[in-house]
Amino acid sequence: MKILPGPASKELGEKIAELLGVEAVPVFFKVFPDGESYVRIEGAVEGEKAVIVQTTSPPQDIRIVQLALIADAAKRKNARKVVAVVPYLAYARQDKAFLQGEAVSIEAIARMLKAAGVDSLITVNVHEKKVLEKFPFPAKSLSAIPLLAEYFRQKGFEEAFALAPDKGAINIAEEAAKVLGGECGYLEKRRDRYTGHVTVEKKEFNVKDKTVIIFDDIISTGGTIVAAAKILHELGAAKIYAACVHPLLVGEAEKRIREAEVAEIVGTDSIPSQVSKVSLAPLIAKALKELKSG
Ligand code: R5P
Repeated sequence: MKILPGPASKELGEKIAELLGVEAVPVFFKVFPDGESYVRIEGAVEGEKAVIVQTTSPPQDIRIVQLALIADAAKRKNARKVVAVVPYLAYARQDKAFLQGEAVSIEAIARMLKAAGVDSLITVNVHEKKVLEKFPFPAKSLSAIPLLAEYFRQKGFEEAFALAPDKGAINIAEEAAKVLGGECGYLEKRRDRYTGHVTVEKKEFNVKDKTVIIFDDIISTGGTIVAAAKILHELGAAKIYAACVHPLLVGEAEKRIREAEVAEIVGTDSIPSQVSKVSLAPLIAKALKELKSG
């Protein structure tokens, strides 16, 4: 097995290679003056399981193309198998046609990656696991929630209330509560499919004077966390924290969340950012170790 750290996840890829004790093969990349991407694998991968580590956070389209080009290059260098490790899988939220005439974007991307040479894929906390069943190759999603919860546990937040901002994320809150040892719950969230505006319905939790950690897969504009924090303040929570696997933090998201009196935002290095305090390297290395012998 050899690790190919893609331009979007160079540091994470190198950490994974170090944990596994395998070679990290450098991938040179550049952008042509007209905006086209170029990649070159600078080492041997012949007969190897080539594991490309490349997240697809913004600029998503460029990073997806880079991933496809690296897969193509690996196959041309006679890699035995190409495994794509894509910590943040862009387009996964468009996993069905919500409105008539829409594309099922994630399925189109998966087919594109298959055509480029990807044989299997590992991602982390994909928005909806079911979508992976429709991929044209084996794909699995790991969960980084225990790692995020452990970060808070080590800070002494045992028994903090773990909150999911919507019903679909209740499994996330339950996973976190297992590590923290406290209660968990969820809010009801609605998003307007045309405007993107988020409304969160109040629920009667007993969070008065308690520390609450909101766990979500993604923080994008911050609208979900801000709406949830507002309700938690109304319910008398003592302190509110926000944790997510994929800190997209678009535009002024971080500022908006801090203004909503959220004490700390914690994310992973799925998307390198200033809130990426938890590394996915041990989680991904463990999953790859299981593949190593295969
Ligand atoms: C959507 O259902 C996801 O789980 C997140 O809650 C969502 O993507 C967060 O987006 P935003 O930060 O823009 O509210």
